Amino acid sequence: MDTNTTTTKTRDTWGSKLGFVLAAAGSAVGLGNIWKFPYTAGEGGGGAFVLIYLLFVVFIGFSVMLTEFAIGRKTGLSAVGSFKSTDRRWSFVGVMGVLSGLLIMGFYPVVGGWALAYVQKVATGLLSTPESIGDSFGAFISNPIQPLIWMGIYMVLNILVVAKGISGGIEKAGKILMPLLFAILITVAIKGLTLPGASAGLEFLFKPDFSKVDSSVVLSALGQAFFSLSLGMGCMITYGSYLKKKENLVQTTAMVTAMDTGVAILAGVAMFPAMFAFGMAPSAGPGLVFVVVPQLFAEMGGMIGLLLALLFFIGLSVAALTSSVSLLEVVVSYLIDEKGMRRPAAVILASIVMATLCIFSSLSLGGVGPTLFDTGAFDIFDLLTDKIFLAVGGMLICIFAGWRLNREDLKKELTNDGEISFPLFGLWYGLVKYVIPFAVAIVAFSGIKAGFDSGKGEIMLMGIAIIAFAGLLSKKL
Ligand code: TRP
Repeated sequence: MDTNTTTTKTRDTWGSKLGFVLAAAGSAVGLGNIWKFPYTAGEGGGGAFVLIYLLFVVFIGFSVMLTEFAIGRKTGLSAVGSFKSTDRRWSFVGVMGVLSGLLIMGFYPVVGGWALAYVQKVATGLLSTPESIGDSFGAFISNPIQPLIWMGIYMVLNILVVAKGISGGIEKAGKILMPLLFAILITVAIKGLTLPGASAGLEFLFKPDFSKVDSSVVLSALGQAFFSLSLGMGCMITYGSYLKKKENLVQTTAMVTAMDTGVAILAGVAMFPAMFAFGMAPSAGPGLVFVVVPQLFAEMGGMIGLLLALLFFIGLSVAALTSSVSLLEVVVSYLIDEKGMRRPAAVILASIVMATLCIFSSLSLGGVGPTLFDTGAFDIFDLLTDKIFLAVGGMLICIFAGWRLNREDLKKELTNDGEISFPLFGLWYGLVKYVIPFAVAIVAFSGIKAGFDSGKGEIMLMGIAIIAFAGLLSKKL
């Protein structure tokens, strides 16, 4: 379909300014903050990882998000269309984004399903046997059937929201449930901090120890920044395309970045003091939130503990949903805008592909199914997207904006044709044009090199090959 005609169709826009900020924050705040950030920080050695992550958020994440919003709003098109309408040769960046969306959705709903399952587990007495909470998580995720059922329920919820269209579904969900989750996290953090021995956790989280940092830790901090802020795959381009011309992009970006980072840090503060108090290892891995949080609430005891635990996992499920909705939306709007499909058909097609990938992911945690370089599907999808696609995607988006788009056009977009001021425009432009592409290239290169020692380099290299392949194919897409 000719992409130019699609822009003239009335495109759904966000109902209100707050609605957009909350929806974009809803995309950003999700499992990445509450599930992934704590265990990645734990594996990366704590304070130094957190510091590097924060630097990446401020100097790279913020600028990339602003770039994505600007490209999206300027073109009014989703991931692929926005590149294609400027220069066909760049469409591969959008296609890679769609592919990243598919791959992230190849494991995200599995973890989303865990969150839903934990609502039920807490309701049916998980907290009454605190000593077996850890074992029960391991047994649950490696069970072939149970997690699949929950993943299925999660996907159905996800599909329902996306099928209803943009302002109806996504915006409402975000508005109600984000503040609730925030409040629960604060409660969890306070409880954790009052446990004896909790201060060691704070120290672990905030006192940098650079002896634990190597290039794979730096790459994982970069990947975490991109993943958590929903960057590098055109998700924020797609969201920006629904944004009205009069909104202030810089302000919006600042708010979304601050909320996302705030929640991640808060999740860390909620988790680590409690972990240290319970004598658990900070490198507990992906089960961290599912083991620490129930233990914390079990410790609290009584109806209050039970109620808060329930609310926590409901909140986590909803935070996950508002994020995965945005991932599914990237794929769906590609099919609508570029392939001329109708929304329901696009949702169904995308969901079938994602559900298939998720089945492999979920089974791989029980050791079932194919592996590549000794790595199962869940870890492959995670590695490819988190360590390679998002960072390289973000780099390419910056190169596109800095070297292919016109400086004055960008300035007009960011200042709403000169109506609002953006004094740091020059700094942003310099970062996007020179610093970020260079920095990401170095971090990715050394991270991949280090990855070979841990047997992960091959998979990351495969990611680079896929990107190159998409580049070669770009004229056909
Ligand atoms: N940021 C979300 C989270 O932290 C996940 C997510 C949603 C995402 N959309 C994205 C990650 C786009 C990368 C790109 O859970």
